[in-house]
Amino acid sequence: MKYILSASILSADFANLKNELSSCEKAGVDWIHIDVMDGHFVPNLTMGPFIVETCHKNTTLPLDCHLMIEKPENLVDAFIKAGASNITIHPENNPKIIETLGQIKAAGCRAGIALNPSTPVEELEPLMDYADLILVMTVNPGYSGQKFMPEVIEKIAKISVLAQKCQTPPIIEVDGGINSDTITLVRDAGATAFVSASAIFHHPAGINTGVEELRVSLV
Ligand code: DX5
Ligand code: ZN
Repeated sequence: MKYILSASILSADFANLKNELSSCEKAGVDWIHIDVMDGHFVPNLTMGPFIVETCHKNTTLPLDCHLMIEKPENLVDAFIKAGASNITIHPENNPKIIETLGQIKAAGCRAGIALNPSTPVEELEPLMDYADLILVMTVNPGYSGQKFMPEVIEKIAKISVLAQKCQTPPIIEVDGGINSDTITLVRDAGATAFVSASAIFHHPAGINTGVEELRVSLV
């Protein structure tokens, strides 16, 4: 099984972003995860299309954009133009989600749905056929370096069963508190793509060792 590691630059050294991206490439990371936060949907305020464009110019890795913003439909085109490969949006407080997923797909990007820890599977079920990717949050979105919430594991298992019933099964990606211990728990529940910020960028021995430890756990 080919597992996907998506390195979240939320924990990267931004004064050194070009080198951080190239270290990720060398370490064998599959995607670069970009956490977009607007200070409304989540309390934190982070990056926008400009950073996606900067990454696009400095890496050939696919850009896995996670939009934690209100009214994502207003910014989707800007992220597409900036070079996003995946655009993942939340269903919480998002009446236009189906339309927006269609907009993302029509542009040739992977369309993703991200679920907060407290959002039940029932909310996802009717939307599943519109998504190429389901991003299951194992922390409350907003910050990197938070503790993994083991109570979400059961939800991952349920989603992965549902995914297999879809015409084209979506990728199951997990985000929040992923390290060399928790990655096996979510993999065993059916996840095949894993986001990690601090376990990669804040590894005391560097990015390469951080990525290697995650890979070794998946063997
Ligand atoms: C949280 C973000 C995550 C975060 C993960 O809101 O969506 O992608 O960067 O950080 P770690 O891996 O440190 O939990
Ligand atoms: Zn994220």
